Amino acid sequence: MTRRSEHLSPELHAYMVAHSAPVDGVLRDLVAETERRFPDVTGLQIGPEQGAFMTLFARLIGARDAVEVGTFTGYSSICVARGLPEDGTLLACDISEEWTSVARRYWERAGVAGKVTLRLGPAIDTLRALPPGPQFDLAFIDADKEGYVGYWEELVPRIRPGGALLVDNTLSHGRVVDPSVTLPAVEGIRAFNAHARDDERVEQVLLPIGDGLTVARRR
Ligand SMILES: C[S@@+](CC[C@H](N)C(=O)[O-])C[C@H]1O[C@@H](n2cnc3c(N)ncnc32)[C@H](O)[C@@H]1O
Repeated sequence: MTRRSEHLSPELHAYMVAHSAPVDGVLRDLVAETERRFPDVTGLQIGPEQGAFMTLFARLIGARDAVEVGTFTGYSSICVARGLPEDGTLLACDISEEWTSVARRYWERAGVAGKVTLRLGPAIDTLRALPPGPQFDLAFIDADKEGYVGYWEELVPRIRPGGALLVDNTLSHGRVVDPSVTLPAVEGIRAFNAHARDDERVEQVLLPIGDGLTVARRR
C-alpha cells in the first residue's frame, strides 16, 4: 500500500510534501528502518503529509494530553507528540513488542520519549481500564479496523469538550464504495463511518488525506 494520499499522482504528492513542513532525518530514518526490517508491512505507517497535518492539528487545537490506538514503529506517535507542549502526554497503545521496540528508540531520538507512555496489550482493555471522564484533548485511532467502533465508544467520553479524534483509513483504499468487497476490515470501516456520522456528541468531516482521515470535534 502506498504512503501517500491515494488520489494524488506521485508527482503531485511529491510537490505537496515539498511544500509542507519538511520531514526531518529522524522520520526519514524511521521509514528507512521500517522498510528494511519489515518490508511486508511498511504501508502501515501514515504518510508524510498526514504526519505534518497531525503535528499542526495538535498544535492548532492546543492539545496537551493525547492517546493513540495503533503505534507500530512510531511514525504517527512522533508527529502527535511533537505537536504537544513540553508537559504534554501521549498514551500509545499497541500489542506488538517487536514493532514498538523500534518506536521506543525513535521517541528517544526525536526528543519526545518523556511525553510518551506505551501500553502493550489489546487496546480495548487499555482504554476500558482508564478513568471514565474527559482526560484527553486528542485521540488518534489507527489499529485493527474491526475494533474502531469499540475504540470510538471508549474514547469519545474521555475527550474534553473542544478536543478532537482523528481516525485513519476511513476510505479503506476506495473499497468502502465497492459492495463486492466484504472483508471484515472493510465492513469494520463502513460500520465505523456510519456510526461516527450519526454520533451527535461530535461534529466531523471525512478528509481525503492518506487513506481517508476522519476529523471529529467533541461538542
Ligand atoms: C496501521 S498500524 C499503525 C501505524 C502507526 N499509526 C504509524 O503511523 O506508524 C496498526 C497497529 O495496530 C496494532 N494493533 C492491531 N490490533 C491491535 C489491538 N487489538 N490492540 C492494540 N493494537 C493493535 C498493530 O500491532 C499495529 O502496530
